[in-house]
Amino acid sequence: MKKPFYITTPIYYVNDAPHIGHTYTTVAADVLSRWARLRSIETFFLTGTDEHGGKILEAAKEKHKEPKDYCDEISGKYAQAWEQMDISYDRFIRTTDPHHQLAVEKFISNLHSNGDIYKSKYEGLYCLQCEKFLSPGDLQDNACPDHKTAPEKHCEENYFFKLSKYREQLVELISNKNHPKHFEILPEERRNEILGKLKLGLEDISISRENLPWAIPMPFDRSQTIYVWIDALINYVSAIGYGNGPENTDTEEFTRAWPVDIHLLAKDILWFHCVIWPAMLLANNLPLPKRVFAHGFFTINGQKMSKTIGNIIKPAELVEIFGVDASRFLLLNAFPFGADGDISIAAFKEKYNAHLANNIGNLVSRATNMATKYYNGTLAKPSCWEPSVFDELKPMFLKYENSMENLKLNEVLDSVIAVSSFANQYIDRQAPWNLAKTDTAKLQVVLYDSMMIVKYIAALLSPFMPSAAEKIWKTLDEKDTIASTIQKMPAFMPLTGSAITKPENLFPKMPIPTDEAGRHP
Ligand code: MSP
Repeated sequence: MKKPFYITTPIYYVNDAPHIGHTYTTVAADVLSRWARLRSIETFFLTGTDEHGGKILEAAKEKHKEPKDYCDEISGKYAQAWEQMDISYDRFIRTTDPHHQLAVEKFISNLHSNGDIYKSKYEGLYCLQCEKFLSPGDLQDNACPDHKTAPEKHCEENYFFKLSKYREQLVELISNKNHPKHFEILPEERRNEILGKLKLGLEDISISRENLPWAIPMPFDRSQTIYVWIDALINYVSAIGYGNGPENTDTEEFTRAWPVDIHLLAKDILWFHCVIWPAMLLANNLPLPKRVFAHGFFTINGQKMSKTIGNIIKPAELVEIFGVDASRFLLLNAFPFGADGDISIAAFKEKYNAHLANNIGNLVSRATNMATKYYNGTLAKPSCWEPSVFDELKPMFLKYENSMENLKLNEVLDSVIAVSSFANQYIDRQAPWNLAKTDTAKLQVVLYDSMMIVKYIAALLSPFMPSAAEKIWKTLDEKDTIASTIQKMPAFMPLTGSAITKPENLFPKMPIPTDEAGRHP
């Protein structure tokens, strides 16, 4: 059976409800999943929540709740947020799911029986918010650079994973692009960063804790529990049935779906996904992920948006202002996918007006208005019609596809914006309102072209703005489907509807307050 396209987001910590940083990764994975499904590629999209460890235990204690009750509550908030954001995941995993625990025990037992786990004393500085050990060189003013909090001193007997043993193999698999099992890290600078660090050396890591009850017990020594990151990474295989068949065998689903095609995440957790996780897989004789893509951070006034710092915007706040589809669009069009970028509601409003209200929304509304006004919604293909404007649009369609394949999601949207700008300029140049008086044959051609472009825009927007795309599609009365239009792209496809109607105002203009001097605050 054919392997599905398997894509994951990180599983998010349940110390607090989601913010738009988490939403960013999840919407991006959703766009890529929808894009694959539109091309009839079977897709498995995984997301979920990371629920063990000291940080979650502390958060539950602060709220005077039992850890599991607290996890249920916050995990539910993630599920709710993803429902609101129209996220089409196939599975939502929780690390407190019993089937996950079973898989973790099998994975760790294998590492143990392969001789990759040993016991030793460990001393180090631990950042509870990162849930990781920091080296003295990582600190800024004696504090974690991300969370600005002082790390705790840890000194205990732990189990260690022989990470160092896999250094050379990892360097080879990451750097040799011709290797049949090449492990691709994108963007390029992230790959170089990982290779640079690997070349400096690699130390074994502690993978257990002595006194942390809110975690999965070590299968071969129940006096210790498994380090939360090791537990969490295994979700990528447990979710698809690793160790969940009869007598702890792997399910068929697992054999069919692994390796994952894309692990999507931000650069904060690159090391875990590009070094620790692949080494764990090598130690377990499992193939490595095909690709890890790390995007950048949303920052507010230059500081990473984070629950701990408290400078967050919640997805519901964005939806309240812009609606679901426009929020998805604005998040992914904010800045290049892969780089960091500062965001603000004011900047989102400007973008919303420029791209959605004044460009795409305006195009849909003026084209459908004219089609109903001059042709009563029945716009037949003109007899002398040729797809000449499509020659000009083809490069934009190709750029769309190419950017999607390379995960340049902001550029994908830029190419949709470019198609819409092209159509608006075309309408301005041709002035159908004058043609209505002077040349009705040409009027029909211009409107047919315009409506065709509207049809393509709906299809191209569909992975990003599924409901808006559907609304546009309905106004066109199309007999074709969005998926078949996408699959035939960039070939030209005529209009198939015969009763074009005017849509509701898709993207009403956003009032932008100005200060007394008339500037936007
Ligand atoms: N639980 C771990 C991941 C385990 S995966 C096996 C974790 N959780 S987290 O809740 O902290 O989520 C981190 C991820 O959330 C980032 O990698 C990124 O995908 C997303 N983001 C969190 N803050 C973000 C920004 N400020 N900007 C962009 N993405 C952000 O780490």
